[in-house]
Amino acid sequence: MTVINKPAQRLSDLGVSTADQIPPLFAEVRARFDAESASAHDESSWKQFRDAWLGRKSGVLTLITDNWLKPSSPELKRVVGQELNQLRANVESQIESRRAAIEAGADQAALARERVDLSLPGVARPIGSHHLIRQVFQQIEDIFVSIGFSVVEGPEIETPYYNFEALNIPEYHPVRDDMDTFYLDLPKGAATPLLLRTHTSPMQIRTMEKRQPPVRVIVPGKVYRRDNPDATHSFIFHQVEGLAVDTDITFCDFTGTIEYFLKQFFGAGVKARFRPSYFPFTEPSVEFDVTCVFCGGSGTSAGGGTCSKCKGAGWIELFGAGMVDPAVYGFVKYDPKKVSGFAFGMGIDRLAMLKYGIDDIQVFFQNDVRFLRQFP
Ligand code: DAH
Repeated sequence: MTVINKPAQRLSDLGVSTADQIPPLFAEVRARFDAESASAHDESSWKQFRDAWLGRKSGVLTLITDNWLKPSSPELKRVVGQELNQLRANVESQIESRRAAIEAGADQAALARERVDLSLPGVARPIGSHHLIRQVFQQIEDIFVSIGFSVVEGPEIETPYYNFEALNIPEYHPVRDDMDTFYLDLPKGAATPLLLRTHTSPMQIRTMEKRQPPVRVIVPGKVYRRDNPDATHSFIFHQVEGLAVDTDITFCDFTGTIEYFLKQFFGAGVKARFRPSYFPFTEPSVEFDVTCVFCGGSGTSAGGGTCSKCKGAGWIELFGAGMVDPAVYGFVKYDPKKVSGFAFGMGIDRLAMLKYGIDDIQVFFQNDVRFLRQFP
């Protein structure tokens, strides 16, 4: 007969009739309790253990109270009562300390599970890099800022006035054929048509409207044209405009500044030259060339044949420039008798292609990381 079953029976059924038989009976119960206590090692086995001993209806302590204590004769009752009180105190305190121990153990396990191992390698998050066009903008800005120019930016949506008229390009002028492009759909009755700027030159006007000479600015930005895409054309591309106006700027200041820029940008070994050209907003107008960066100006490729980049000329056409046409000063209320200056507008995509030997402008817009990663 097990200890657990003894409390289910009355003392008389257990053959207990004298007080001295009672302490050994409780000793048995206590031994059983200690054994069960050791096996309560997690939350669910602890709950079973607790209910088996303290359960109101059929817990061991309740059974002892009902079967041993209540029906006993007064002199047995005194001893049973004492023993039962001791047992209860012991059971309650041990069950509580098991609970605390199990909880602490669970905490330890959780701590061990969640511990961060600082010796593991970290998660590498690759850092991006600037697009090559952005890098070239930065190089150009650095060169001009170092000689006293400041950088300004302007709107990509322009009015015909700034994009054309104030640059001395009236409505009937044939150069508009190249550039009259990408007008916005506006509600009927809009005050003025709007277009995506075809060049950064409108910022010459906007700058001179706001500032009095001396003015020295460059304007990096995106421009838009009705061009079909091919290896050298894109309907979006990039320019840096330049404008310097003061009371005593000469043609020599102009060509010297451009030459300085070209040597800084391409390397001290290059030579620059200019040829006459035409732009409505400059007079005289020129086109700047640089010695071919691929054949060093010899016109001959490394293999001995004709250089395919400059087609044997030894020179590569770069960008347009000139002395600001006095007519333009009229639009911004500068006095053409007092001021003079120069302007230039270079295609950044083209400069980048020449400097880095890229033969297709489209790669700038395709965002292919195999291309982008070559320019970290
Ligand atoms: N705006 C011209 C174009 O996009 C380039 C240009 C030529 C700008 C001469 C200038 C300049 O400032 O002086 O074709």
